[in-house]
Amino acid sequence: MTIPALELNDGTSIPQLGYGVFKVPADETERAVSEALEIGYRHIDTAAIYGNEEGVGAAIASSGIARDELFITTKLWNDRHHDDEPNRAIAESLEKLGLEQVDLYLVHWPTPAKDDYVHAFAKLIELRDAGLTRSIGVSNFLVPHLERIVAETGVTPAVNQIELHPAYQQRDIVDWATAHGVRIESWGPLGQGKYDLFGTPAIADAAAAHDVTPAQAVLRWHLQKGFIVFPKSVRPERLRENLDVFGFELSDAEVAAIDALDPLDGSGRVGSHPNDVN
Ligand SMILES: NC(=O)c1ccc[n+]([C@@H]2O[C@H](COP(=O)([O-])OP(=O)(O)OC[C@H]3O[C@@H](n4cnc5c(N)ncnc54)[C@H](OP(=O)(O)O)[C@@H]3O)[C@@H](O)[C@H]2O)c1
Repeated sequence: MTIPALELNDGTSIPQLGYGVFKVPADETERAVSEALEIGYRHIDTAAIYGNEEGVGAAIASSGIARDELFITTKLWNDRHHDDEPNRAIAESLEKLGLEQVDLYLVHWPTPAKDDYVHAFAKLIELRDAGLTRSIGVSNFLVPHLERIVAETGVTPAVNQIELHPAYQQRDIVDWATAHGVRIESWGPLGQGKYDLFGTPAIADAAAAHDVTPAQAVLRWHLQKGFIVFPKSVRPERLRENLDVFGFELSDAEVAAIDALDPLDGSGRVGSHPNDVN
């Protein structure tokens, strides 16, 4: 199983599909990540706020997999943007992960009411230059936030990790990212199970046509759109299912039918609006 790699705007590369561990309980994380690594995942997406970096680190340590074959992302939490807090926060994350460097470090939310995300991103540039992370990016940034960090720091983030699934496609941010060479990472790629995505004809029909599950059809849609995904599951059979998406290809018409699903019922997001998280 070869997972395709995408090049980032700083010359590094990232496996396009990984395993996200949001809501994987701390005491289950080592087992779940170990299973994921065993079946072929090489890209893990965690965050300081998930409380499970130690479990990710334990699984990495016991895997025997060479460090340069793994891609590990973690994120700076919202209350640590100011002063030198990002330096302390990444040191704590690295300690928990048992690593000297992460592959990608993200500002988790812009928290615009605090108005310190430009400072936080500027600190990430320093952390990258000091070798504590190979690449830097942001998460949940809207176009005005993106415009501002680029204008004020002169650095374009490698990725923007945003809520994105067929019911909520954030085309304004995707268009901006495409124009500026920023990769989109889709969080909640399956809509976190909050929409009946799998029952919609566009998805159910595509799945039936390729003899795959609706979840596999949705993940394939993300991959063909050029997005990076890391679906979460704590079930080994779903970990396998979510990785087994490289043996078929949706037609242009099937992709277009899924494109047409936004908005499914007009309500869009399953998560918080970035301007409301502070
Ligand atoms: N940056 C951010 O603010 C942010 C926010 C949210 C998430 N994320 C990242 O994005 C990752 C993925 O997003 P997410 O976990 O929120 O949502 P998701 O991957 O869209 O959905 C996960 C849900 O779908 C179920 N599921 C997984 N595979 C399935 C399959 N093949 N068939 C049917 N159901 C399936 C899981 O249940 P089971 O576990 O029971 O299988 C879980 O309830 C996270 O783990 C995290 O790394 C980032």
